[in-house]
Amino acid sequence: MTGAAITFEGLGKSFPKAGGQVMALADITLSVPQGSITGIIGRSGAGKSTLLRMVNGLERPTTGKVSVAGRDVGTATGSGLRAIRRDVGMIFQHFNLLASRSVRGNIALPLEVAGTPRGQIRARVDQLIDQVGLGALADRYPAELSGGQKQRVGIARALATGPKVLLSDEATSALDPETTQTVLDLLAQINRDLGLTVLLITHEMAVLRDIASHMAVIEAGRIVEAGPTYDVFARPAHATTRSFLSGVTGATLPAFVAARLQADPPGDQVIRVTFAGTHATDPMLARLATDLGISANILGGTIEEIGTRPFGNLLISVPHDRGDQARAS
Ligand SMILES: Nc1ncnc2c1ncn2[C@@H]1O[C@H](COP(=O)(O)OP(=O)(O)OP(=O)(O)O)[C@@H](O)[C@H]1O
Ligand SMILES: [Mg+2]
Repeated sequence: MTGAAITFEGLGKSFPKAGGQVMALADITLSVPQGSITGIIGRSGAGKSTLLRMVNGLERPTTGKVSVAGRDVGTATGSGLRAIRRDVGMIFQHFNLLASRSVRGNIALPLEVAGTPRGQIRARVDQLIDQVGLGALADRYPAELSGGQKQRVGIARALATGPKVLLSDEATSALDPETTQTVLDLLAQINRDLGLTVLLITHEMAVLRDIASHMAVIEAGRIVEAGPTYDVFARPAHATTRSFLSGVTGATLPAFVAARLQADPPGDQVIRVTFAGTHATDPMLARLATDLGISANILGGTIEEIGTRPFGNLLISVPHDRGDQARAS
């Protein structure tokens, strides 16, 4: 990864509303590395879609600047803006396909708009259909496709003009978990094979864990935390990040264990141990027992991969008077 594909510098956006302004984004400074899959997570109304729409010029900044490959999007007009939009594809939560057009017709649309000769369109569409694994479905209509298949059409259409950046606005939010996984796998493959930079927004931490190399957390229009996904998962600094994380990394006690501890306080201390990077496979429990003579009780835990690196969470309880010693080790 070299350089930034997209940069936001002190970006702000307000919308007029009766009797004043609503501030949707404030002081956004972020750089999306070239070739990365960068994810932005935030709650409903945090400003995610507004931020994404700045990148292809569907919204203009009120303050600050957004650039794609060094070109200022906010001030671009006419042919300059069209050139930026050719470089930026977008996919949507509800697919936004034309019901009256077949798979082939939907994918051809951006090529027709760009004035690509008919003969070339046919070959390019075939290539795209192959790329997203829609081979046998080329002549079907959207009503005859599953959600996952529709999103593949959406992805093929977004790739048609050969963009350098792909924007994804909650592209898997309308899909079941299994289909979500296949669509995420396809995005990761496109990122790898085409070297395309992907900027995606989501409200699900699991999506970031599975495919994002970099991430940012947005809350009420501001970025509260950003960095490589692994680092943010391992050392979340902001309360909002931690609350998003609690669902995916086994960072919270299983409900039945929590209930038992509350009903019958054992006088033990509960400790959460995070294993990251090279320490993820250390024999920590054995060390506690043999070196310190502390026997720990396992309450819950998970080990999973973020990117290709192992990451674990273990909740243990140790006798009350040994807690500080166990923590220090
Ligand atoms: N065109 C608009 N006019 C006025 N207010 C807007 C407009 N677009 C967005 N907003 C406001 O800006 C804020 C951010 O909206 P945005 O759609 O970016 O949120 P979001 O994070 O994408 O939410 P969701 O997860 O629900 O899609 C909200 O308060 C919203 O009401
Ligand atoms: Mg949105």
